Amino acid sequence: MRQKTAIITGASEGIGAALTKLLIQHDWKVIGLSRNLKKLKFLQNSLLKNKDFLKIYACDVQDFIKLESIAKKNLPADLLFLNAGIYTPINATKNNIEHYKQHLLINYLGVINSYEAFLPKMISRKKGHIIIMSSISGWIGLPKAAAYGPTKAALRSFAQSIRYDLNSKGIKVQVCSPGFVETPATSKNDFYMPGLMKADDAAKIIFNQMKSNKFEFSFPLIFSMFMKVFSMLPDKLTSLLIKKFVC
Ligand SMILES: NC(=O)c1ccc[n+]([C@@H]2O[C@H](COP(=O)([O-])OP(=O)(O)OC[C@H]3O[C@@H](n4cnc5c(N)ncnc54)[C@H](OP(=O)(O)O)[C@@H]3O)[C@@H](O)[C@H]2O)c1
Repeated sequence: MRQKTAIITGASEGIGAALTKLLIQHDWKVIGLSRNLKKLKFLQNSLLKNKDFLKIYACDVQDFIKLESIAKKNLPADLLFLNAGIYTPINATKNNIEHYKQHLLINYLGVINSYEAFLPKMISRKKGHIIIMSSISGWIGLPKAAAYGPTKAALRSFAQSIRYDLNSKGIKVQVCSPGFVETPATSKNDFYMPGLMKADDAAKIIFNQMKSNKFEFSFPLIFSMFMKVFSMLPDKLTSLLIKKFVC
């Protein structure tokens, strides 16, 4: 019998789908959410004999009522993986007001909605684990990421803050800050992505790191180490290095 359950937002493709498959291979049950039921069904069918271990819900993370109703229908999860997100590269000289709003509503407030909906059952159980998907672009403003990056910086700050209250209730909080992972989201990038890795490899790292006591984990190792150093240098130097290596 499968003992552990994960709720994954943004499970239909990319990193969320890769982690869903990996957890199911490791005897977890997964509740997968995303907007597109067709994509979720496709993922479910790809699991063949394990498909009953993935329960799917078409749900937009902007819809708090729906998220709450899903939470009510299900037992508390061992892991809440707050992963749903969008990414649109933008040219900051153009009018991007709709992109700024969309990123805030989905990437930031969508995580808050999901957190608020699923947290109460974890609190009453006094046990749980929440992983928030941030990004290296939350450490440092990257080219084309003026709509995306600030939402990831906000999520990191959110996670840093909630851990004090949650840890005292038996809930572990982690932030995952990847570099570039090959997914439908990054397929829009027309620039060189240093250290680009496969979604399945990213899922393996997440699966291993979720057992660690690290608050934040990042990958790929070399790229994330460089970016950490870049983010601590004087700004003039940081921007020169970003121009040279990421633009
Ligand atoms: N790929 C990277 O290089 C990278 C790097 C750092 C961080 N991240 C973060 O990792 C997470 C996953 O990224 P990814 O690259 O795997 O992206 P992706 O392949 O585009 O997948 C995004 C997932 O989120 C779902 N989603 C989007 N908007 C949603 C909404 N409003 N409500 C519910 N689900 C929604 C999508 O499904 P539907 O379309 O079916 O809704 C899809 O399942 C994101 O938070 C991203 O910011 C990615």
